[in-house]
Amino acid sequence: MSRKPFIAGNWKMNMTAASGKKLIEELKPLVKNANCDVALCVPAILIPEMVKAAKGSNIKIGAENIHWAPSGAFTGEISAEMLKEYGVEYAIIGHSERRQYFGETDETVNKRLHAALNAGITPIVCVGETLSERENGTTNEVLDRQLSVGLAGVEDIKKIVIAYEPVWAIGTGKTATDEQAQETIAHIRKKIGELFCPNCAQKVIIQYGGSMNAKNCKGLMAQPDIDGGLIGGASLKIDFATIVNFDK
Ligand code: 13P
Repeated sequence: MSRKPFIAGNWKMNMTAASGKKLIEELKPLVKNANCDVALCVPAILIPEMVKAAKGSNIKIGAENIHWAPSGAFTGEISAEMLKEYGVEYAIIGHSERRQYFGETDETVNKRLHAALNAGITPIVCVGETLSERENGTTNEVLDRQLSVGLAGVEDIKKIVIAYEPVWAIGTGKTATDEQAQETIAHIRKKIGELFCPNCAQKVIIQYGGSMNAKNCKGLMAQPDIDGGLIGGASLKIDFATIVNFDK
């Protein structure tokens, strides 16, 4: 079953309009012959400028979050329709930093991903266990809950991208080993098969995220169930192009 790899950056709360534009200009020629889909998820305020900067290239622009309501009294929030109007094609949903610092739950993840799908934006749904959950052997249980609640009611699971991001590997320089990432992502695919259908699960793009960089990307991408990466720190630099060209 062939799945087109997908490498996405998550700028988090980094970059400015000027530095973001400069990086995109530098990346464009370096990633133009990529054999994978390429996206950069950027802070909301940078979206219009980054969409302009990436225009005509194979770099798509994504958001880092999305609100579930179409409009209303939600001070500080941004709707799917607003993002779509500016050319956003992807949205990260339920990143562990949003779960940890902003009270995101599996239920709000589910509401947000439906808002994204309704607007024609591809959700990149983040799941992953903490260090203590891995150490006490509950990784699969945690993932099963995040997937069954988070993905409830999805009609076409192929429209969702999953990012497996072990919380202990994010920004720590401590990557999951190729084998750990493969084993856990294979479990995620199996669970999606049970929740939806085994055949559809084979078509779902599942990324790895957590200290993925220009050095370790090849080994991770060689794993049969790993279809891409969600890149934090290394997406703020020209190294992102090396990751996008992991197969060259
Ligand atoms: P780092 O690549 O900086 O570890 O971040 C991963 C991540 O959280 C991407 O969403």
